[in-house]
Amino acid sequence: MFNLVAMQDLTNEEILELIKTALSIKQGKYHPQYPHLFIANLFFENSTRTKCSFEVAEKKLGMQVINFDVSTSSINKGESLYDTCKTLESIGCQILIIRHSTEHYYQQLTGLNIPIISGGDGSGEHPSQCLLDLMTIYEEFGYFKGLRVAICGDIKNSRVARSNYYALTRLGARVYFVGPEIYEDTDLGRMQNFDQLLKYLDVCMLLRIQHERHTKSSSFTAQTYHQQYGLTNIRYQQLSPHSIILHPAPVNRDVEIACELVEAPKSRIFKQMTNGMFMRQAIIDFICKRNKL
Ligand code: CP
Repeated sequence: MFNLVAMQDLTNEEILELIKTALSIKQGKYHPQYPHLFIANLFFENSTRTKCSFEVAEKKLGMQVINFDVSTSSINKGESLYDTCKTLESIGCQILIIRHSTEHYYQQLTGLNIPIISGGDGSGEHPSQCLLDLMTIYEEFGYFKGLRVAICGDIKNSRVARSNYYALTRLGARVYFVGPEIYEDTDLGRMQNFDQLLKYLDVCMLLRIQHERHTKSSSFTAQTYHQQYGLTNIRYQQLSPHSIILHPAPVNRDVEIACELVEAPKSRIFKQMTNGMFMRQAIIDFICKRNKL
């Protein structure tokens, strides 16, 4: 089975192919349809964007959609993730979309004969978010090589940071990290001074602090974090005229970004969500073709 669970599942050429397919769908030039296929969405962690945009994408593809409800499922009687997925495969589902809090959860599922598209694995990766971010950047600039991208926030616990770092560096962009040292992931890179970077940036990607993954409470108040590491109105004024702001959302207004900047001219935050629905159609289409479904 060809799965999409991490950005290393894709070559650079495949990433560009996915972006071009998503743009064709967005422009109304390509209408893939799979009315014969059953697809199941399994979200073991909370979600608004990923869950709803996968569902809209699946319905636009004409698919038969099963929204698996974890809270009323036999998971609560002790059924394993593997047995749950094997059951869905056995009753005729042909693709699974899974979000789970366990990093690399998909390693438990290697015996399945059904492709998996990950909607996020703990602090691991979030490939569909990364691909919609790349689509939004590509739509703006038309290339990646040499772009300067700052990823700001809780890098250590962010699957969005990890996927974007892997993909953007491979595509030739220069990625910088910004945030408190306690959120640094030294395997990816050291934290830089936000104020010194601002005027050089093409893309300023802000992240939510992942409180649900912390074992200790942070010493920051919302206000002190915003002043030291957030995109304040003063920092916004220092960004170059052509630069854009991204955020995977959900946004904590006045923490990582000032409330009024969420829909400021440089913000592409809601455009990311729109693009996500087109990118998820492209991802499912790609997975169907690769697995001859
Ligand atoms: N960006 C993102 O993954 O949002 P959700 O958690 O709402 O799906």
